[in-house]
Amino acid sequence: MDTSFIAQSSSLDALPEDAALKSHARAIAGTHLRQFFAEDPSRAQWLAFEGAGIRADHSRQRIDKRALELLLALARARGVEARRAMMFGAERINVTEDRAVLHVALRAPKGERIMLDGVNVVDEVHAVLDRMAAFADRVRSGAWTGFTGKRITAVVNIGIGGSDLGPAMAMLAVRPWSDRSITCRFVSNVDGDDFGEQTADLDPETTLFIVSSKTFTTLETMTNANTAREWSLAKLKDRAAVAKHFVAVSTNHGEVAKFGIDTQNMFGFWDWVGGRYSMDSAIGLSTMIACGPAHFREMLEGFREMDEHFRDTPLERNLPVLQGLMGVWNRNYLGFATVGVIPYSHLLARFPAYLQQLTMESNGKYVCLDGKRVKWDTCPVVWGEPGTNAQHSYFQMLHQGSSIVPMDLLGFRHSAHDVKGHQHLLLANILAQAQALSFGKTADEVRKDGCEEPLVAARTFEGNRPISVYMQDAPGPRALGRFVAMYEHAVFTQGVIWGINSFDQWGVELGKKLAVSIAPDLAPGARAAPKHDAATNAWIEWLRSN
Ligand code: F6P
Repeated sequence: MDTSFIAQSSSLDALPEDAALKSHARAIAGTHLRQFFAEDPSRAQWLAFEGAGIRADHSRQRIDKRALELLLALARARGVEARRAMMFGAERINVTEDRAVLHVALRAPKGERIMLDGVNVVDEVHAVLDRMAAFADRVRSGAWTGFTGKRITAVVNIGIGGSDLGPAMAMLAVRPWSDRSITCRFVSNVDGDDFGEQTADLDPETTLFIVSSKTFTTLETMTNANTAREWSLAKLKDRAAVAKHFVAVSTNHGEVAKFGIDTQNMFGFWDWVGGRYSMDSAIGLSTMIACGPAHFREMLEGFREMDEHFRDTPLERNLPVLQGLMGVWNRNYLGFATVGVIPYSHLLARFPAYLQQLTMESNGKYVCLDGKRVKWDTCPVVWGEPGTNAQHSYFQMLHQGSSIVPMDLLGFRHSAHDVKGHQHLLLANILAQAQALSFGKTADEVRKDGCEEPLVAARTFEGNRPISVYMQDAPGPRALGRFVAMYEHAVFTQGVIWGINSFDQWGVELGKKLAVSIAPDLAPGARAAPKHDAATNAWIEWLRSN
């Protein structure tokens, strides 16, 4: 592998493209979006792009032709195209973990070849998909029964992070296409109230647990899995019942077997699938049981459409690349620290939470690939809630707050349910918010509405908030795959530009280790003097005394 990208990772600010972008950003910083549009209404056309079933509108971003040209030049100078080819070519671009990054192989069609260490991983992917499909069909049809012969009516996914957020998000997104006779639940938190609540109305005889963990060592997941086993056996009494009520999704055969799950009922994946890139691997087993193998494959096709678009489309028209570049412009050249992602589809209500891990665990890093500290900002804070609900909570701050927050608004031309009189209102709200946030309302316009002078300032909207709008025809498994893949590749693009490794997550290790060292001091009956820092010791004493 050509490793020159590692040495170049910390030199973003030495590039002429970076200097040119900084100076251009200063030059157009004072230009309001109203002015951009007044000078060139055709930006509504030339800043709109279509690919893989998505229409992307960046005309309300605070950019002009020169900014876009420079951003594309920056992407080229940072080697986005070369690194993209390395990812698709199975090179070990996750250099800190010495791994290939091959989530794109998870949706490669049968017959394609992606060779890694002499093995065609696409064959392996399809072997697992076929096993998942056979299992999902058996659960859905009732052929797979619980230990006492009863049909499975509840599926509980136990997992956390990438082994929870993707499947939980997808479950809601594919709900209209799902078998409603099967209840699907998710237990992730080590807080016993999570397990307690999610299982309170379930019957062990008809409940199937999917223990989803890439490593099968994660504290939260294994604690919940052990509790689930006790909960099941308290009623089923016989250890042999575990084989009928527990299956595993993992890369770790040894630990799965140790837990007591028959490895025949284990669905594998590989170290080249990052946790936050795994919802379309066997980690999606709960999704497949809910919506059925055919819909799951449709979701994979949606992913694949975007993969091909990302791989084959010139940067100038490449949706994920452009999305990544808008983020870089807003973060590094305009200085905005957060980005709101607002799905105008209730089926995507959990999409922002999913994106938080995808983007922030991938690109929330201050160390370049060569080990040097970055001298520029990396991942912004990503957050969001579905519209229109969000409009009635925090949109006040977005419209008139003292900080500017760029936003992605996502929507669909049609809804899944044909409920009369709703969809045009939802769509009107997307367009209205995009318009209000970007154009605002001037004091003169407020006065023209007959507003009393003392209230004019309070009722004026500065606008000039950067907005991108993404629209697909209709929700569904395919649409979900396209949106997720678009963000995956935008994250990739940004990681390459920032010179960081988007595929490791060392930053979560310290807290995990400390929790393990603190836990014995909080266990029931613990008496020994705690030996941590003074504040932690004081808390431990307080918790013990109360
Ligand atoms: O703590 C972070 C993390 O490692 C994530 O990257 C991962 O998605 C999650 O924990 C769960 O890990 P696992 O699937 O191995 O249980």
